[in-house]
Amino acid sequence: MSFKNHDIISPEDFPEDRKMDLTLRPKTLSEFVGQDKLKANLAIFIKAAQQRGEALDHALFHGLHGLGKTTISHIIAREMETPIQVTSGPALEKVGDLAAILTSLEENGILFIDELHRIRRVIEEILYPAMEEYMLDVIVGRGPSAKILRLDLPRFTLIGATTRPSLLSPPLRDRFGFTHQLDFYTVDDIGKIIKRSAAILNIDIDDDAATEIAKRSRFTPRVANRLLKRVRDFVQVKRHKRVTKDLAQKALEMLEIDNAGLNPLDRKIITTVIEKFSGGPVGVKTLAVAVGEGLDTIEEMYEPYLIQVGFLNRTPRGRTATQRAYKHLGHQKGFF
Ligand SMILES: Nc1ncnc2c1ncn2[C@@H]1O[C@H](COP(=O)(O)OP(=O)(O)OP(=O)(O)O)[C@@H](O)[C@H]1O
Ligand SMILES: [Mg+2]
Repeated sequence: MSFKNHDIISPEDFPEDRKMDLTLRPKTLSEFVGQDKLKANLAIFIKAAQQRGEALDHALFHGLHGLGKTTISHIIAREMETPIQVTSGPALEKVGDLAAILTSLEENGILFIDELHRIRRVIEEILYPAMEEYMLDVIVGRGPSAKILRLDLPRFTLIGATTRPSLLSPPLRDRFGFTHQLDFYTVDDIGKIIKRSAAILNIDIDDDAATEIAKRSRFTPRVANRLLKRVRDFVQVKRHKRVTKDLAQKALEMLEIDNAGLNPLDRKIITTVIEKFSGGPVGVKTLAVAVGEGLDTIEEMYEPYLIQVGFLNRTPRGRTATQRAYKHLGHQKGFF
């Protein structure tokens, strides 16, 4: 299967990726690279819950795609030595779908709901008493004779993951005892992830080659793993045995990822702001239309990185290109 550029940063699961995910996904807290504060906090929460023999508090993880929300949720289950049931907001179509899952949970078990912001309101409302009192309200019958039946649920932990926490309703958000935002990783930590993955995949890689890939991985573990695989393919086809810095650079060049980690669409976004909108400010909706991409794609996958590396600014009047962006693209500010 050949990857397009977009695929490297896409949140989509490609069949090839899924296999890789299973082998590369850290299984314990100590294998999970970086996010030290989160790991320290979780270690304490987990130990305390285990000592009391209780379920862990409900936990919410938010952050951009590929930063480790699903990974950390599975690690928690493993560290708690408890089963984890996995579902997602859009998969829960009917009230009965959630009711069936809730009633089948084990005592102290974990329910993981991915894309929590996409849960339907009627289903969300079932979660409130379930999370708070471990109760399930079932309506039996119809019309005036309808009754609410309260069923006891096992004590369980809900772990929610979302890329859009602002879309969660406040009552749902408030029911999580532990909330954590996963942030971009440092280049150093991404370098460690690349070396760890290379060791698992039996790839010989020089330290400076790992750093080179790390610098262009959008501070994101999933992107780093995908780039490592693309570089490995390149090195193998060129009949080399070891990934050197020079080969890594050549492979990344072929993938059209420049030395600031920008791919063609990143560059198109900045060029558009500079050339079509005189450097901005331009509203993000207008910008999305101008580059021919969906608003969500721009907001969730491109803009955060461009802001993080200092090429784009988010102002109340819209997005503006920074001096650094002009310089990177070889433009003179005021020229366009
Ligand atoms: N801290 C980490 N250390 C090592 N590898 C990691 C870490 N975080 C994530 N990864 C790797 O990156 C991949 C992507 O992580 P994960 O699927 O958990 O992201 P996510 O936040 O759930 O993304 P999405 O929002 O798209 O569902 C994982 O398969 C794992 O191999
Ligand atoms: Mg996930």
